[in-house]
Amino acid sequence: MLSIVKGPYLQNPTGHTMTVMWETSYPAISRVDVLHAERIHSGHQGNYKQPVDLFGTFAEESPTRIHQITVEDLEPGTTYYYKVYSQHESDEIESDFYMFKTAAGQGKPFSFTVTSETGGYSGFDSSGGHINQRIFSLMKQYRPDIALFIGDIVNDGKNEEDWNKYFFDPGRDFLVNTPLYSCLGNHEDNASWYYDLFAFPEPKNFYAFHYGDVHFICLDSTDLIRKEDYPHSSGGMSPGNAQYDFLVRELSSSVSKWKIVFFHYPPYVSGGYQVEDLRQLCPVLEKYGVDLVLNSHTIVYERSHPVTEGKVDYDNGIVYVVVGGAGAMPNWLLPKREWHTSQSLAVPHFLQVIVTENRLEIRAIDDDGRLFDQLLIRKNAEGEKDYI
Ligand SMILES: [Fe+2]
Repeated sequence: MLSIVKGPYLQNPTGHTMTVMWETSYPAISRVDVLHAERIHSGHQGNYKQPVDLFGTFAEESPTRIHQITVEDLEPGTTYYYKVYSQHESDEIESDFYMFKTAAGQGKPFSFTVTSETGGYSGFDSSGGHINQRIFSLMKQYRPDIALFIGDIVNDGKNEEDWNKYFFDPGRDFLVNTPLYSCLGNHEDNASWYYDLFAFPEPKNFYAFHYGDVHFICLDSTDLIRKEDYPHSSGGMSPGNAQYDFLVRELSSSVSKWKIVFFHYPPYVSGGYQVEDLRQLCPVLEKYGVDLVLNSHTIVYERSHPVTEGKVDYDNGIVYVVVGGAGAMPNWLLPKREWHTSQSLAVPHFLQVIVTENRLEIRAIDDDGRLFDQLLIRKNAEGEKDYI
């Protein structure tokens, strides 16, 4: 029987487009219907939106199992409803209505969440509770515009079942209306499923995108530090390496107010699994004014002091946050903090980041919904920062 086995989920939001993906149990001919959403007023119900007239229908040309349809000609910062349909022989299936919202442009505030490690490495607690499910459920309550995942979202990327077990099933209700971005962790193992299931900009293991006033850059640290060399550099962090050159190109041409770079292995963490060789990237990140670096791999939360040239710099340093996310390994924190450590705690968590033109507010929330750390970075028109 034809069924939807993943999603639908959302990719690559821009002001005018949204990519909708889902997987069906058989190859099927598919389409997405997009409807205008109208705000209505209804006494005791308060204000809410409902699908009204059809905006458009967007179809695939041939039957596939993993569907990827880009909806076009949308209005920026606007909420729409969508519904997916698939047909295999005489069998057909349709989803419920879900919402998506197109990207706001420059100068418009937005928020995003960040987590990682949903892959069950410590994603299931001793009572059998699913930490990753709790994290997804809490993130949904914060209604972010987009969500970042910093890798290890599955346990074994080459095992097809893992993608549902650890990510698409527990995340389903969140991902139907929150466009997601991810980077490769070591547990994804550079598996073809990562490339098949996501529509990130090519070549997908590293890419960049803009949202509001932020230029986001995703790197593949599992290529810069390959399995056979781990935890040492594989020699790619210098000119001539495609990924390094891409990073320089993106940053040197960036006109965005905020620059955020994310990759899996952490250059700064006072715990096990720090990958110090990745500090070879820091001169480039510092030269072009990166504000925030997001990492994972060490399954703890840790926020650094702002850092420049290996020293604390509360005038203009880069803040490194390890978002160990949907796990907690207290024994992975070393007995004593390092000089770069500002705050650390080994609890399951996610970040909520709220961005305006002049403020980047980072809030760390645990799996009981408690705020346990926060940092506000302010930046004036001259680019001068302060950290509160
Ligand atoms: Fe990892």
